[in-house]
Amino acid sequence: MDTIQKNLNYKKYVIDSDLRYFKPHASKIEKTFAETIYSSLNRDTKYIDSRFFYDKKGSALFEKICTQPEYYLTRTEIGIIKSIQAELSALVDCNFRLVELGSGASIKTRLILDVFAGLQDTVEYFPIDISEILTESSEQLLLSYGNLRITGIIDTYEGGLEFLKNYDDKKNLIVFLGSSFGNFSPSDGQAFLKKVNSTMRPGDLFLIGLDLVKDTQILESAYNDSKGVTAQFNLNVLSRINDELDADFIPKNFAHHSFYNKKDQRIEMHLRSLVNQSVIISKSHLVLNLKRDELIHTENSYKYTIHQIRNLLEGAGFYINRIWLDDDDAKYFSLTLASKA
Ligand SMILES: C[S@@+](CC[C@H](N)C(=O)[O-])C[C@H]1O[C@@H](n2cnc3c(N)ncnc32)[C@H](O)[C@@H]1O
Repeated sequence: MDTIQKNLNYKKYVIDSDLRYFKPHASKIEKTFAETIYSSLNRDTKYIDSRFFYDKKGSALFEKICTQPEYYLTRTEIGIIKSIQAELSALVDCNFRLVELGSGASIKTRLILDVFAGLQDTVEYFPIDISEILTESSEQLLLSYGNLRITGIIDTYEGGLEFLKNYDDKKNLIVFLGSSFGNFSPSDGQAFLKKVNSTMRPGDLFLIGLDLVKDTQILESAYNDSKGVTAQFNLNVLSRINDELDADFIPKNFAHHSFYNKKDQRIEMHLRSLVNQSVIISKSHLVLNLKRDELIHTENSYKYTIHQIRNLLEGAGFYINRIWLDDDDAKYFSLTLASKA
C-alpha cells in the first residue's frame, strides 16, 4: 500500500485509527490549477473546468443549492435511495466496501452506510473528492457510526480510481451520485465509464445517479434558484481564482447565466462579462481581456433518457442489473446499478 501511495505521489495524513486520507502535495495541486486555468482561458472560447467550483466555500454553497426548493435533484435521489435500501442489503455482503466518487458532504452516503452497518461489524468507506470538504464530512460520519473506518482520497475521480485499482481484493460498491457524471462531455464521459469499469473486478457493483430529460422550465429553474444561491456558487469560482492564483477578478463585473440547451440535452452555466475588462491572473502568467457580454463557460450538466443511460453503460462494458426511478409520475431522476459485463 505504501508503494502505491509513493508511486502516485500522495501525502498520507493519519488522523486516528478510524480516519486517514491521501492528498497530492500542495505544490502539485497549485501548479495543476494554474496551468489548467491558463489553457482554458487563453483561447477564444473560454471556459473554467467545473471541478474548480469546489473550494471550501464552493462546497458549502453546493450544499445550500441542494436545499433550494427548485433543486429537485437531491430530494428526488434521496427518495429513490430510501426506497431501495432493502434491495441493496440483499446485493452486498460482508466482503464489500463502499467507495464514493464525488462524496461531497456525504449526506446521501448515510443511507447506504445504514445498509452496510446492518450487515457488517466494521464498515469500510472510501470517499474520493477533490474538495477539502472530504475531511469535515468524514469526521461528521465518524461521530454517527461507531464501526466505520474511512480512507479518503482528496483528488480527482481518476486519481482516486487509480489508487483503488491495486489496493486489495475486497469487493467494492462504487457509488457516483448527484448526477455529477452529467458534467462530463459525451466523449469524456464514455472514457470515464471505461475507467470505472476497468477498475472494477467481477463481483464489484457500480451505482450511478443520473438526471433525466424533462420540461425546460423545471430544468432552468433548478439552475436559476430564486434566492440566487446557484449564482453565488458560479461567481465564487472567480473569488477562488483571486485567492489561490493571485488574480484580480471583480465578481460584480460578471453575471450568472444558465439555460437549457435542448439540442445537446444539457444545462449550460456561464459567467457573462458585464463590461470590457482586463484581469491579471498572476500565478497563471495570464492577462485576460474580456469584451462586454463575452461568456466564460463554467459547467455543463447533461440530462439523459433511459435509452441513453443503457447505451452509455453498455457501451462502456457494463451489464445493467437494475434501473430505479422516482415514484413520481413525472420520473425526474434515475439510479442505475451495474456490474462488469
Ligand atoms: C455535484 S457535487 C455532488 C455531491 C454529492 N455526491 C451529492 O450527490 O450531493 C460534486 C462533488 O464532486 C466533487 N468533484 C467535482 N469534480 C470532481 C473531480 N473531477 N474529481 C473529484 N471530485 C470532483 C465536488 O467537490 C463535489 O463534492
